Amino acid sequence: MSASLATVSYIGATILFILSLGGLSNPESSRRGNLYGMIGMGLAVFATVFGPQVTWGGVPWIVMAMAVGGSIGLYAARKVQMTQMPELVALMHSLVGLAACLVGYASYSDTSVVLTGVDKSIHEVEIYVGILIGAVTFSGSLIAFGKLSAKIGGKPLLLPGRHWMNLTGLLVVIWVGRMFLNVETGGGGAFALIVMTIIALAFGVHMVMAIGGADMPVVVSMLNSYSGWAAAATGFMLSNDLLIVTGALVGSSGAILSYIMCRAMNRNFISVIAGGFGTGGGTVVAAADGQPAGEVTPVSALETAELLKDAKNVIIVPGYGMAVAQAQHTVYEITKFLREKGVNVRFGIHPVAGRMPGHMNVLLAEAKVPYDIVMEMDEINDDFPTIDVTMVIGANDIVNPAAQEDPNSPIAGMPVLEVWKSKTSIVMKRSMASGYAGVDNPLFYKENNRMLFGDAKKMLDEVLVALKS
Ligand code: TAP
Repeated sequence: MSASLATVSYIGATILFILSLGGLSNPESSRRGNLYGMIGMGLAVFATVFGPQVTWGGVPWIVMAMAVGGSIGLYAARKVQMTQMPELVALMHSLVGLAACLVGYASYSDTSVVLTGVDKSIHEVEIYVGILIGAVTFSGSLIAFGKLSAKIGGKPLLLPGRHWMNLTGLLVVIWVGRMFLNVETGGGGAFALIVMTIIALAFGVHMVMAIGGADMPVVVSMLNSYSGWAAAATGFMLSNDLLIVTGALVGSSGAILSYIMCRAMNRNFISVIAGGFGTGGGTVVAAADGQPAGEVTPVSALETAELLKDAKNVIIVPGYGMAVAQAQHTVYEITKFLREKGVNVRFGIHPVAGRMPGHMNVLLAEAKVPYDIVMEMDEINDDFPTIDVTMVIGANDIVNPAAQEDPNSPIAGMPVLEVWKSKTSIVMKRSMASGYAGVDNPLFYKENNRMLFGDAKKMLDEVLVALKS
């Protein structure tokens, strides 16, 4: 393929990637967005493999590598459960970081290109920065994978003087960076690169280890952004314009997502990175004196069905537990039944419900819930006082009134769905365990709240039978 045809293909792929990002911003256009992304990536790979930068002798190697990588990707995508998606994403980010490191070392060792003067310095800065971002992304994403899959505890690791350690690391990276750029021969330069890589790997581990469970959503989107910048750095090293543009698109959209996540959790980005908030989650919480924090009113599936039958306005608030129980199809069966009986049923979606951005939207779309009854938090929060029954399905942190009522709560100030303002709220969960942030939920003890204990799918099946009987 000629250089100009490859450039035209790259421009086409760039436009498709931008259309893809635009499509993904709305559930209704997200399928189309995905399709644009797939076509764009296909075009990008084709134009690169058959473009002027690859010789014919290299094509079989690339095809072999693509077959191995593609098979692993296909296997992982088919095997992974919806609830494990954030872990898979974290693992993918680590591969982008690793690729940036490997490309950096390969570029450094490549003696076939002889550069001098400013060109040489620019290329060296590209290599240094590329490996730096790549190494932080690689080790940080591996730790994020460990935390999200519970292989590593969610509790933040707060080493004494950790900020000073980070600052010292940064100063050493700058110092060896100067050394790297001033070295005329290869030898000392490799030493500087290795020292910087070790510090960057340690920084990635330290940064994510210090971040508590409750801030993990921000970390995943932040690492997404880092992986984009690592890809852009790789693009500079390989002089590949498309990789630079694509990396910048991923890097900036990840940064915007991190900002949105921080706003949704009322967290400041810098304090997220500084770490220390949230526990491993899933613990039974008692009051400070060791006594249970209050009395709850349990209900049966039959009583829940009665309450729903008598209601005119219902809101369903799904959370992580709905994903665990895979209850979305039964949820929709109940929704359909109630709507046929004239009940106004809508869904209230919190921006950080579940374990990844858009987690609940994906599950509800899979169950074919119509988009027009799926509302975002800001669209529906004012309606709760007019609601007869709110069903909270496996959600906890996102409906915790302590965020508004207790200024000392670790989640104080986080916007939440105000379900306690409805006439009756019913919380479905298996026990009194806390949610991901590891904090008690006063909603459970409110007078107008009922607890339907059990696995969400099992209980909803029983509710559906009771409704139909
Ligand atoms: P959580 O606060 O984690 O609460 C989920 C609840 O579901 C748990 O209290 C659990 O209680 C219940 N549950 C688990 N399995 C269940 C099952 N099979 N049947 C019924 N209930 C079940 O979830 P949330 O309200 O969706 O809030 C999300 C939290 O995750 C936030 O703190 C958020 O910051 C964090 N987070 C979000 C993301 C993104 S990007 N969305 C990523 C990482 C972390 P039982 O054990 O008693 O059943």
